[in-house]
Amino acid sequence: MMLLAFETSCDETSAAIVSHGRVLSNVVSSQIKLHAEYGGVVPELAAREHLKNLLPVARKAMAEAGILPSHLDAVAATQGPGLGIALLMGFKAAQALAFALEKPFIGIHHHEAHLYSPWIASRGEAVLADFENFQPNISLIVSGGHTMLVLVESELKHRVLGGTIDDAAGECFDKTGKLMGLAYPAGPIIDRLAEQGNPAAYDFPRPLLHEANDDFSFSGLKTSVRYFIRDNPTLLDDPQKIRDLCASVQSAIVEVLVKKTLRAAKREGVRCITASGGVTCNRGLRQALQTACQKHRITLRLAEKSLCTDNAAMIGILAERKLRANVPVTLFDGEIMPGWTLA
Ligand code: KG4
Ligand code: ZN
Repeated sequence: MMLLAFETSCDETSAAIVSHGRVLSNVVSSQIKLHAEYGGVVPELAAREHLKNLLPVARKAMAEAGILPSHLDAVAATQGPGLGIALLMGFKAAQALAFALEKPFIGIHHHEAHLYSPWIASRGEAVLADFENFQPNISLIVSGGHTMLVLVESELKHRVLGGTIDDAAGECFDKTGKLMGLAYPAGPIIDRLAEQGNPAAYDFPRPLLHEANDDFSFSGLKTSVRYFIRDNPTLLDDPQKIRDLCASVQSAIVEVLVKKTLRAAKREGVRCITASGGVTCNRGLRQALQTACQKHRITLRLAEKSLCTDNAAMIGILAERKLRANVPVTLFDGEIMPGWTLA
């Protein structure tokens, strides 16, 4: 089986070649710089960039894998959720290619694919084999667009336990960073500045930490940072205080994510936790998850940094598994589903 997958749900144009659980290539063209000057992703611009990048990215993925279109057995693409016109570009290009090659086409749920990304090796090895040994597991998906906890019961079987009721964790990093005058996306900058800051310098709320559910809320934390800066305007003139502020905000976000994930794992009697999504690049979060899992003797599986952010490799890996499990393929009447929620 040789499969070409596309991912265009937001601001990454990605194509990957996957074969027998191995990632032969995974090309990602990020649009971060383009959207930075607007302080967030502009859907119309994202769609135009996808259109421009899709063919070069697909060509590069095939060249790196050493294959031609005629070698493909199937084509896959993200069907949803995501920005409608961004999804449309990758989904329709993939469908057209599959139609022309007379090969199966399969549309993939973006969040379901994230559940597999911690089990993928970015290149070559078939690390996914481990996946069977660690079911059930609790998967934390945490990025700029989504924050959710999912119980992965077995292959292709999962249940969403909770999610954010307002802002996603990455959005909280980005919006609080903006209040501090940091560039977009602020998450990686806060991560870097927090390294030399004091996480106990300022006390911010830990939203929903003590609620008996698996939901998250980050908009209140953002508001409290806004008021804190309004009431302490000179703070932003002092680089060390900015580093302390970054460390304090990061520590509030990380504590909520880690404690709620651990609590869900214990309640469900699960011995393995996985994490993926852009915020999983955060060093504070990676370290805190490692420490907590070690303490509670839970196996931790973090996505490789290059696979934390959106990529076509995870779309391809899941698509191949679905095809092998004879899950009905979307064929050519499938349409994008921008608001598709994971069950
Ligand atoms: O998964 P992703 O590339 O795209 C989606 O949002 O779907 O995630 C991007 C998000 C942004 O909010 C960005 O600030 C955040 O992930 N992020 C980080 C770090 N790297 C990326 N947040 C905190 N620390 C990081 N190192
Ligand atoms: Zn994502």
